[in-house]
Amino acid sequence: MNGRSGLIVMAKVQILPPEIVNKIAAGEVIERPASVVKELIENAIDAHTTSIELNLKQSGKTLIHIKDTGVGIDPDDMEKIFLRHATSKIYHLNDLYRINSLGFRGEALYSIAAISDITLRSKPSHQDVGWEIHLRGGEKQEFKPISMPAGTEVIVKELFFNTPARRKFLKSNVTELHHIFNTCVPYILQHYQCRFLITHNNREIINLPPHQDVLDRVVHTLQINREDLLYREYQLLEENLSFSLILGDINIQRPRRDMQFIFINNRPVQNKLLSFYLNQVYQTFIPSDAHPFFCIFLSLPSSDVDVNVHPTKREVKLKKEQRIATILSKVCEETLLSYGKARRVSTNLYLSQDSSSSTQQKNQYLSNSQEKKLVSQYVLSDHKSYSTYRSYEGKSINRGNEDSSSVVPLSPQSSETPQQLSLRKKLKEAHYIGSFLKKYLLFETTSSLLIVDQHAAQERITYETILSQVSEGGLQVQYLVNPILIPISVQEKIIWEAMQKKLEELGFSTTQWNEETIALHSSPSLIKNPAAALRNLLSGDESLLRADNETLIRRACRSSLMAGYEVVKEQAEFIRDQLLSCKIPFSCPHGRPTVVEIDQHTLDKEFFRR
Ligand SMILES: Nc1ncnc2c1ncn2[C@@H]1O[C@H](COP(=O)(O)OP(=O)(O)OP(=O)(O)O)[C@@H](O)[C@H]1O
Ligand SMILES: [Mg+2]
Repeated sequence: MNGRSGLIVMAKVQILPPEIVNKIAAGEVIERPASVVKELIENAIDAHTTSIELNLKQSGKTLIHIKDTGVGIDPDDMEKIFLRHATSKIYHLNDLYRINSLGFRGEALYSIAAISDITLRSKPSHQDVGWEIHLRGGEKQEFKPISMPAGTEVIVKELFFNTPARRKFLKSNVTELHHIFNTCVPYILQHYQCRFLITHNNREIINLPPHQDVLDRVVHTLQINREDLLYREYQLLEENLSFSLILGDINIQRPRRDMQFIFINNRPVQNKLLSFYLNQVYQTFIPSDAHPFFCIFLSLPSSDVDVNVHPTKREVKLKKEQRIATILSKVCEETLLSYGKARRVSTNLYLSQDSSSSTQQKNQYLSNSQEKKLVSQYVLSDHKSYSTYRSYEGKSINRGNEDSSSVVPLSPQSSETPQQLSLRKKLKEAHYIGSFLKKYLLFETTSSLLIVDQHAAQERITYETILSQVSEGGLQVQYLVNPILIPISVQEKIIWEAMQKKLEELGFSTTQWNEETIALHSSPSLIKNPAAALRNLLSGDESLLRADNETLIRRACRSSLMAGYEVVKEQAEFIRDQLLSCKIPFSCPHGRPTVVEIDQHTLDKEFFRR
C-alpha cells in the first residue's frame, strides 16, 4: 500500500477466494470447542431429541462426538446442509420475525466443516438405513449408507487443523472444558425432559435422566438445595408477556454471576439490562459482593424479539426491554419478600436478639418499608451463619486471646498519607463506646466518632495474617474431625481437580466424596466459614488457576467470616489493635473502607448548631 515518496495507495480490489471466505465466516461462529458444542446441541434440540450424548476428548480439541434421537436428516439433504445458508428452519423473510427454533442462519455445519474433520450420520425414523457423510476442511470425502438407530450423530475431529492461528489461541484443557460446561448448562436446565450424558476423556461427567420438572433438573445439575429455591409463574395478558421464575433465596450466594440464567422464547441469552435489574433486587437481601441464583424463562411475541443481532445469537434485542426489566424486578422483589426465607430469617433474627415484649410490639408496628430495611440489615449475615451464630457467640469471649498468637504484627506502611497517619493515631487512642447493629464498632476521640466495620476489619486482619503465614511457611491449619461435605457443580469440579494441589498449600485439604460432592478435611485456622471460603475459590473462573497466593487468599477471605456477632469491649479493642498492626489497615482486601470518621463539625452541622 505504501507508494513512492510516502504516498499511501490502496491496493487493487479483488473478491476473496472461497477458501478464505469460508474461514473468515467460520471464525465468526466458531471461536472455540464450546462454540461447536453449542451449535450441535442446538441442532439436536431443534430436531426434538429426547436424549443427548456428548463425548469429548481433550476438551473438544481432538474430539466432539454428539448423538441425538431426533427426527434425523433426509439422505437427499445430507450434502446440502454443509452449504452456507442451508437451513430447514426458515423459508421466507417474514419467518425471520417469528423464529421459534434455536438455529435459523444455516451457517453452523458449514462453519464447523470448514475448519475440522467432520462426519455426520443420520437416519430419520421412517427410513430403513442411515447415511454417513465425511468432510475435511469443507471438502466432501465420502458418502455411504450405514446401519444405525434413528437420529443423528456428528463427530468433529481435529478442530482448527487448517487454521493454526485460531488453534494457537485455544486455552488450556481446563479452561476450554469450563467454557464447554458453561455453554451446556443453560440447555441442560431448560430441556429437563431430555436425558444428558456427557463424558470427557472416557470419564462420565454428567449423567442426568429425564426429569419431572425444571426444579428437579436445577437441583441435580447445580447441586443446590430445593428448599433454597422459589418457583413462580406469571401471565400478564395486557403486557402480552408470560414468564416463570426460579429464584434462589439468600442461602445461595456465589462469588460470580455464574448461576444466573435468562431464557427468552426458549433461547438462553445474555441481556445486560435484565441481569442488572435482577441483581439490583437482590442487593437488598444479600451482601453486595455476593451474587444470587436465578433462572428466568420469558415468553413474549416473537415480533417483540430480534435474535438476528449476532452470529452466535447469544444476544437478543427486545422491543420493550426497559418495561420488561421493571416488571421482572418488581415481581422478583415481591416474590422474595413474600415467600423467601429472607422474610422468615429477618423475623427470627429480630426476635432472637431481644425477645422482650416491647421489641416484639415494635416489630408489629413496622411499616413495609421499615421492614424492608430490617430485612436488608439482618439477612446480610446469611441464613447459615445464623444457625451457628449462638454457639459461636458463646465461644467468642476467648476468641480474641485464641487468635492473638496467630497474628503477625506488621509494621505500618511508610507510604501512608498524612490523613491515614492521623487516622491511625486517633484510632489507636480512641475509646470504645459500643457497637451498632452487631456490625459496627464505635470509638470516640475528643473530636470525632470512628466507626469500624467489624466484618471488613476482620477480613483485612485474616487476609494479612494468612498471607504472611503462607509466605513464611507457618500456616496454621485446623483439621476437622468430621469432614464438611460440599456439593459441587461440574464447573466447580473442573476447577477443583486442577486446583487441588494449590488448595492443599493454602491449607484446604480436600478429597472426592462422590461424583457430586467433595469432602473438606482442613482449612486455615483463621477462616471461620471454610465451606464458603472453599466455594469462593472453586466458583472462580479459570484465571484463578494462574492466580498468585495473594489473589487466592483474598478470594478465600471474602464473606468467609461470621457476620453479625456481638463483641465485648476487650474484643472490640483487640480487633482495633489487630487492624492497626496490618500493613494496609484502612481498607478490606476487596477495597471497601474499614474505618469511617464522622467529626464533630459534621454532626454540629446536621443539628444546625452552626
Ligand atoms: N441433529 C440434527 N438433526 C436433524 N437435522 C439436523 C441436525 N443438525 C442439522 N440438521 C439440519 O441441518 C440444517 C443445517 O444445520 P445448521 O446448524 O448448519 O443450520 P441451522 O441450524 O439451520 O441454523 P444455524 O446456523 O443458525 O444453526 C438444519 O437446518 C437442519 O435441517
Ligand atoms: Mg444449527
